[in-house]
Amino acid sequence: MEHAVDITVVVNGTTVKRRVEPRQHLVDFLRDELGLTGSHVGCEHGVCGACTVRVDGQIVRGCLMLAVQANGCRVETVEGLSDSKELARLQKAFHEKNALQCGFCTPGMLLCAQELLNRKEKPTREQIRTHISGNYCRCTGYQAIVDAIEEVSNG
Ligand code: FES
Ligand code: FES
Repeated sequence: MEHAVDITVVVNGTTVKRRVEPRQHLVDFLRDELGLTGSHVGCEHGVCGACTVRVDGQIVRGCLMLAVQANGCRVETVEGLSDSKELARLQKAFHEKNALQCGFCTPGMLLCAQELLNRKEKPTREQIRTHISGNYCRCTGYQAIVDAIEEVSNG
């Protein structure tokens, strides 16, 4: 790796040091280097939201951010947020409401929904729809996803 760069990233609470190619995207780094395959790769140009992860508390598109840009950051993926149980209520509601079919969009959708719930106590259905509008789902028609998020927001 001729122009490789050394990076240190805290991923799901664990400090990781790696030498990476400057052009490697964060989602590929997480999947290929660290085996964290919960974040998916769909469009690869920032449209579908399948690659959503959290960096220093903000959700980002892992296909638009380079791994080197995450140097010194705290990265959280669906695996870490599942282990910490932060997503537990949403995961349960998605399951109960049949808010996933193939599951390809689900990790990104969960992170996006959790961000809304962390920010806003009782979002309206319209606000939920707007918030998840950058996360594409080809299977469910969104109704069940909105139902699940709404159920969690209603406590
Ligand atoms: S794969 Fe990143 S937004 Fe689609
Ligand atoms: S459940 Fe298949 S893309 Fe959303």
